[in-house]
Amino acid sequence: MPEPTASTILLTADQIQRRVHELAAELERDFPSALDLHLVCVLKGGFVFLADLVRNMTRPLSLDFMAVASYAKGTTSSGEVRLVKDLDSGLEGRNVVIVEDIVDTGLTLNYLQEILRARSPRTLRTAALLSKPSRRLVNVPIDYVGFTIEDRFVVGYGLDYAERYRNLPDVCVVPTAEE
Ligand code: PRP
Repeated sequence: MPEPTASTILLTADQIQRRVHELAAELERDFPSALDLHLVCVLKGGFVFLADLVRNMTRPLSLDFMAVASYAKGTTSSGEVRLVKDLDSGLEGRNVVIVEDIVDTGLTLNYLQEILRARSPRTLRTAALLSKPSRRLVNVPIDYVGFTIEDRFVVGYGLDYAERYRNLPDVCVVPTAEE
């Protein structure tokens, strides 16, 4: 796989930072400080988005982390999802926002929304930095979307290829075999 270069940048760090700032403002508007707000980051990919999102917010909030994995490795997902790390605390009566890096087929998010809804949060919303609607296999609600993108394989800003590139500040396109 060739290294991502400047010419493969899909979203620059500046574009991402501006959009994350807007999303943080939307969340603060929708959840005034008097309301509890609990962000659930989906590892591993969501960690960079979460870190930037919360640093753009001044209201009190709490965080928790969960990890899921699909059984497939590489550029396609098998559709099967397994819970690798569960949350530390319960969600009953809380305003919960799932924080994801990308929604592709929607299978992961659909699974997460189902298991978290069963824990009786007061509200359950989702923020995703990236959405690829053309790949959707299941219709999942996403309340806050950073960018809607075409069906390209992307890395950086938390997203990996075989665990690499998560640290890139930009979102870059990685050519697949067909490209
Ligand atoms: C990615 C991403 C989502 C999921 C989206 O996770 O973080 O959780 O895939 O795909 P889907 O909509 O087709 O279900 P990945 O399995 O690559 O794990 P990672 O976050 O640890 O990299």
